[in-house]
Amino acid sequence: MAPTAVRALYYSATGNTRKLTVAAAESASASLGVPMSVVDFTSPSIREGIVAFSSDEVAVIGFPTYRSKLPLHICDDLASKVRGDSTPAIVIVSYGNRSYADSVAQLVSVLKRNGFVPVAAAAYPSRHAYSDLVGAGRPDADDLRDAEGFAGEACRIITAGISGRTLEVPGDPDAPLYVPLGEDGKPVSFLHARPKVDTELCNRCGRCADLCPLGSIDRKDPEVTHGDCFKCQACIRGCPSGARFFDDPQFVSHVRQLESLYTERKEIEHFL
Ligand SMILES: Cc1cc2nc3c(=O)[nH]c(=O)nc-3n(C[C@H](O)[C@H](O)[C@H](O)COP(=O)(O)O)c2cc1C
Repeated sequence: MAPTAVRALYYSATGNTRKLTVAAAESASASLGVPMSVVDFTSPSIREGIVAFSSDEVAVIGFPTYRSKLPLHICDDLASKVRGDSTPAIVIVSYGNRSYADSVAQLVSVLKRNGFVPVAAAAYPSRHAYSDLVGAGRPDADDLRDAEGFAGEACRIITAGISGRTLEVPGDPDAPLYVPLGEDGKPVSFLHARPKVDTELCNRCGRCADLCPLGSIDRKDPEVTHGDCFKCQACIRGCPSGARFFDDPQFVSHVRQLESLYTERKEIEHFL
């Protein structure tokens, strides 16, 4: 059956995955000559409902790498709420220029279990959420052009027919989470760290509460967080007055470790 629509679905706390996924979806839509729509799975309210794809859609699914895998709670929501019906899927993963390790394998595995047929996958080195020096400036114009070309190629595969297709990707969907290292190469933990607020700069606009993918920031008092924090940096990068920051010593030590080891430009990888 010829596809009649393209639907992109992404989780993107700081925008890298969104740019790549939308570029790929726009290209897929143009190459198939069908309309395109977008589901922003970053938003907690969107993740409350079921998202069902039909057999005549093409899904373009984008996720970032967190600790070598997919973001924990969001992956649970993906597994329990996003369903395909033998829907062909183009898989996009962004990572912060260190390693995508097991995230592509985990995303392909969850999608297969949920009724999708992953047709092609790609891993894009991107600016690390923790530092502008790691993966600096990426995804850049070349990366976005690559995502367009990659999606076009995936659409040619879909049009030729995907019955019996199995996509091989590297990584282990069941591998444990990566443990971050500090400057001295020893493991660090900043699970309980929370973003702080410079009260002189904060004008209580509530933008941070709107941006938090876990809905954890108190709208009336941004100094208060309820529940979990991914350290995703959405509140920090999205604060219009630059009032939010992390000063947890182990977090800072991990950022320095990334900046000392992972600034070299990495190549995009395609799996078709
Ligand atoms: C909690 C957390 C863990 C991360 N773990 C990794 C990792 O294991 N490897 C890596 O290369 N980048 C890692 N990153 C960087 C992100 O994968 C990268 O910045 C990604 O492009 C963010 O996507 P977004 O801008 O769509 O939110 C991590 C970022 C966060 C916030």
